[in-house]
Amino acid sequence: MAIVVKYSSLLSLAVVLIAYWFRAPDRSVLDDRLDTVLSSLLRAERKVGTSSVSRPRVAIGFGGCVDIIVDGVALLNKIGVKPSYQPLHHDYIENAEQLGQSFAFFFPPGAASERFVVNDTLFSELVEASRELPGNRWSIGGNAPVMASRMALEGCDVLLGGSFSTDFTDILSQRITVAGNTLDEPDIHLILEYPTGATWGPYTSLRANRYIVHSDDHNPYLDSMEQFQEQLKSFKPDLLVVGGLQMMDNFPFKHGVRESLLNNLAQMLSSASPQTTVHFEMASFVDEGLMLDLLQYVLPHADSLGMNEQELPNLLSLFRGSNLTVLSDPNPRVATVLDQMRELYRLVNQHHHQDAGTGRPLTRLHVHTLAFQAIIVKRGSQWKNTMSATAKASLTANRHVCGSADIDLSKARLIMDESFSTSRSEGSQRIPLQESRPVSCWDEDDYEICVAPVLVCTEVYQTAGGGDNISAAGLVLQV
Ligand SMILES: *[C@@H]1O[C@H](CO)[C@@H](O)[C@H](O)[C@H]1NC(C)=O
Ligand SMILES: *[C@@H]1O[C@H](CO)[C@@H](O)[C@H](O)[C@H]1NC(C)=O
Ligand SMILES: *[C@@H]1O[C@H](CO)[C@@H](O)[C@H](O)[C@H]1NC(C)=O
Repeated sequence: MAIVVKYSSLLSLAVVLIAYWFRAPDRSVLDDRLDTVLSSLLRAERKVGTSSVSRPRVAIGFGGCVDIIVDGVALLNKIGVKPSYQPLHHDYIENAEQLGQSFAFFFPPGAASERFVVNDTLFSELVEASRELPGNRWSIGGNAPVMASRMALEGCDVLLGGSFSTDFTDILSQRITVAGNTLDEPDIHLILEYPTGATWGPYTSLRANRYIVHSDDHNPYLDSMEQFQEQLKSFKPDLLVVGGLQMMDNFPFKHGVRESLLNNLAQMLSSASPQTTVHFEMASFVDEGLMLDLLQYVLPHADSLGMNEQELPNLLSLFRGSNLTVLSDPNPRVATVLDQMRELYRLVNQHHHQDAGTGRPLTRLHVHTLAFQAIIVKRGSQWKNTMSATAKASLTANRHVCGSADIDLSKARLIMDESFSTSRSEGSQRIPLQESRPVSCWDEDDYEICVAPVLVCTEVYQTAGGGDNISAAGLVLQV
């Protein structure tokens, strides 16, 4: 009897092994699965079209720049920055050694980051070297212009607040009206991109991402704000988006200048019509003073917030009164992110209730991660189509990173687990990822949560600007 049992279990083990053997190299099952997820996401996206009758009107500030996109490791090699054996976080970059240390800090985990270079000589050297680097690309950069372009592409009429050179303005979509000054020299941002598995000395990147450096003179001053505000009155936007404030991060302002700029911004936001919803797009902030100012001047006026998996715990730590988190898990689980989102949503609204009478409650929170998109929307609020918006955000992630509007499944992978817990607390519900209904939505408290898996792009064209494209794509279906 014992032998029989043994045999049968051996046999079933063998069957499993053989089945696995036959399945493992067989991509067709996997392809079918991806295929179903893709067609279902596309169907969800198409469920709502932005109608040509009522094109959403969107006003977006502030600033913008010209991006030079290069291979990060190639650039550092070219200018002779050796792989630093001392990965260190720096709030801003003063010399080549610090650049090496800072890159070594963010590159291995593959965490997006953006730093101000205070040393003009170093920055010019970096720009010169990038110009000469084979394979470099130039593009429109900055949160506001990227979001503006995406919104215009999706059929919105856009007012963009920023000061640009005329060649920059010329290449923007016809649907975009610029409010700001004309500059001779645009600010330049250097985008050091790297793919998954790139190596630099002893380091290997766990995921594709970018490290950005800049040395802006115009953007930190939000110098288009006055003209933007003037045009806002007649433009009457349905949605007002604020982004690009990270250009103020660690910028050497004279005493009181930053507060006064943000105070003006707060005035502008608080005078927005109640019919206009306000979205604030977070970014890579490390300047605690600035973050505290954002909490005081900007967040109270936002109906909606957008951010990535690094920015969420960073903002949360500020609310909790602890130090900023410079680096978090770049591949967090759904349950972890949802718990953080619930807490942030609760804390922001708690603040709102404490300052009774001023500002707006938070009614929407969108977090974009590599593996999935998650959106919380208050029930009964003005935000529409949350399910389709989550699907669209997810599709946009692949389209942007792969650099193609058509999604090629041979360059896509699902990295989200086959099921996820809705929370890390014990006894929480587990939700299976259903290929034919990939966007899961459910109700909690006074809000709805939707989660969609991302068909992660495996042949990266560009990561920079991803969050902006994704956030904008999600918003477009919700206004
Ligand atoms: C600024 O960068 C240049 C070029 O890399 C370097 O020679 C100089 O020492 C740096 N200055 C400071 C103050 O670190
Ligand atoms: C928080 O930051 C302060 C100042 O930089 C530092 O002294 C302190 O050790 C930090 N606390 C934690 C828990 O990291
Ligand atoms: C993201 O936005 C930029 C700027 O508007 C645009 O050039 C790029 O094509 C967008 N990505 C996708 C996938 O559309």
